[in-house]
Amino acid sequence: SQRPIIVQGPMPIEAEEFAGRLENVKEETSGNFVFYIGTLEDYPVIVTKTGKGMENAAAATAIAIEKYNPIAIINQGTSGGHDPDLNVFDIVLGERTINIGALKTGQREKNEGIAPTEWIPMDLMASEGSAGEDPNAEKARYYEGDKDLLAAANAVKDTYTKGKIVEGTIGSADFWNNELDRINWFHTNFGTSVEEMEGAAVAQIAEAYDVPFLGIRVLSNNKVNGGEYNPNTAAANQEYVYEVVKQYISTL
Ligand code: 5AD
Repeated sequence: SQRPIIVQGPMPIEAEEFAGRLENVKEETSGNFVFYIGTLEDYPVIVTKTGKGMENAAAATAIAIEKYNPIAIINQGTSGGHDPDLNVFDIVLGERTINIGALKTGQREKNEGIAPTEWIPMDLMASEGSAGEDPNAEKARYYEGDKDLLAAANAVKDTYTKGKIVEGTIGSADFWNNELDRINWFHTNFGTSVEEMEGAAVAQIAEAYDVPFLGIRVLSNNKVNGGEYNPNTAAANQEYVYEVVKQYISTL
């Protein structure tokens, strides 16, 4: 039988719009995770409402892979801008996704304080040894967006009229950054276009199972250029991702 495409969204406003577009839907839950199992133009598609954050996203991904054997996973939803050229309603296709919470601090003794700008990236997947001691782990790990999913996303770019669509770098962590200097530090040192709280966790698990992955994130806010939070971006992103999935199905 055909292997389903998984489309994930963390919050109700980021998943239910897409789930409502599926046909022949049957709902299954596992833990806190809701799987809307349906079809899109007769091809199996499963929308997952994962809940927010890296842990929920990772667990919902592993369960989906073990239970449903997906052909591809799209993680989508809202994000906060790190790039001043991106505005609320613009969409970032995750050419790369990185965990921006995976960091190692410098060596500081008692009363020497805390210096976040000296922290360095830490790659937990660099080796099976101690990430704190292994010099090979002192680097950023970027997960590549799948080429075929990216091609499908680019092919239907013109269907989206609420903003522009660019390829970029998605940074993930259980963190909401409101310090402009810290946001700019990520933008400069990791090349982040946007931040959110799930993509890199999903990318890591998808890679472990060798399942194609792409993050697609709309800006719901951009502190860097004064872009105010707009929750309607979540629905706009799902409308676009629906077109991406349709296009991807046509290539299978
Ligand atoms: N920082 C972090 N996460 C954000 N999200 C939207 N904007 C931001 C931001 N500026 C997304 C996360 C999470 C929820 C809070 O919305 O992915 O699911």
